[in-house]
Amino acid sequence: MRITVDAGKTLLVDGPASVTLVSGIAEVFGYALRQMGKVVIRDGKRMPFAVKEKATFDVSLGENANVEEVEGDTIPPSWEEAYKELAALEKRPSIALVLGNVDSGKTSFCTYLVNKLVNDGWKVAILDGDLGQSDIGPPCTIAYAIASKPVTDLFNLEAANAYFVGATSPSRVFEKVIFGVALLKEEILKRQPDYVVVNTDGWVEGADAINYKLQIINRMDPDIIFCIKQDEILTPLFTAIKNFKTFMVESPQTIRQRNREKRRSLRELGYIKYLKGAKVQSIPISWVKIESDDGELKSLNKTFGMAKREREICDLLGMKPLHIAELKDKIYVVIGKGRWIDPEKVRNTEKAVGKKVVVVWKGDEKGLLTALYNGEGRFLGIGVLREIDYIRKVLKIFTPVSSSVSTIAIGKVRLDKNLREIPVSQEEKTPLVQT
Ligand SMILES: Nc1ncnc2c1ncn2[C@@H]1O[C@H](COP(=O)(O)OP(=O)(O)O)[C@@H](O)[C@H]1O
Ligand SMILES: [Mg+2]
Repeated sequence: MRITVDAGKTLLVDGPASVTLVSGIAEVFGYALRQMGKVVIRDGKRMPFAVKEKATFDVSLGENANVEEVEGDTIPPSWEEAYKELAALEKRPSIALVLGNVDSGKTSFCTYLVNKLVNDGWKVAILDGDLGQSDIGPPCTIAYAIASKPVTDLFNLEAANAYFVGATSPSRVFEKVIFGVALLKEEILKRQPDYVVVNTDGWVEGADAINYKLQIINRMDPDIIFCIKQDEILTPLFTAIKNFKTFMVESPQTIRQRNREKRRSLRELGYIKYLKGAKVQSIPISWVKIESDDGELKSLNKTFGMAKREREICDLLGMKPLHIAELKDKIYVVIGKGRWIDPEKVRNTEKAVGKKVVVVWKGDEKGLLTALYNGEGRFLGIGVLREIDYIRKVLKIFTPVSSSVSTIAIGKVRLDKNLREIPVSQEEKTPLVQT
């Protein structure tokens, strides 16, 4: 459908949709669109086309998409002021960090800053620290990209490197997020950008969130912090960062709030994007290093042939499991699907060894999200663990990555055959934070 909009108005398009500027002049988040270039708006996203000179658009709407014309520009004046503050910084690189609640406009504001900086000819790196609603890199990762041209959606930038956290919410894995942020910061600085724009996640409320954000901020050591003010929730966090140069910006009034389902379906678009062309690869366990937070799957690397101690434990259990490993705080036992283990013997083993026995069944690993790295620690892509073949000692991973894998990190998120998220545990069902 063709829509003509007068100068000074904005066309708001809710995806899934695509829009082509046929004539006139329009901007998206500070980016003056090229004519006849197609702009894709993802499901769950809204894009404002600010019309500078009477413009005609060709709009195609997907299911439940919507288009609406509003008066004026929906980019708040404080965003322009913010850009002036940033442009006035003389240090190279200058690091800008963005703080805000879930759905406050963090991503859009980062997009705006990146576009303005690129238009002014600067080399810009963007570090995306929002693992639940990643714009750059797959969901559950933090990642960075170098922007060489303006974009309507940061999702279109190619990640230069990523760090896999393996969860959608930072609250239970915040040390990993902090580690990843520091790691990628070092790498970014080696590329000598003029500016680094850092986006963060929306976990901002409560003492734990503030403590976590302070650690991120200290690692990044930003030259300016932009705080997106949506309501009073952020006041304690803003108070806690008063040693830094801060600048308050408004949250756009026309912002589109998303519910948990929408946020999840946006993540699922991310899994689909990064699993495109995936095939099931069989990777011998002896070829790779396995990383997992709880050490359970990591123990696959250790046991080739059974140590004496483990044989003793098997005797206590009265069975030979598919895999057994003694970890610091537990005995990890994997048994065949549908197999029975005598609870009495488990209790006796626990008493004899003084550690808890954790029993899992073969097949429990199915669907876990994984990340693959090469020998230099470069992120190669994500995959879905389909099966651990304990007999042949092989991992079967559905992934587009086909070579030079040397480390496999196993996450907490689980995906079904259609790449939809399934809650892994009680924790994931009731996250502390919206993701
Ligand atoms: N100025 C604006 N006008 C219209 N829609 C906007 C504007 N700023 C943001 N949005 C839309 O509101 C939604 C939430 O913004 P987003 O930047 O994704 O927030 P966050 O990153 O904080 O979750 C997105 O769909 C975004 O495109
Ligand atoms: Mg965002």
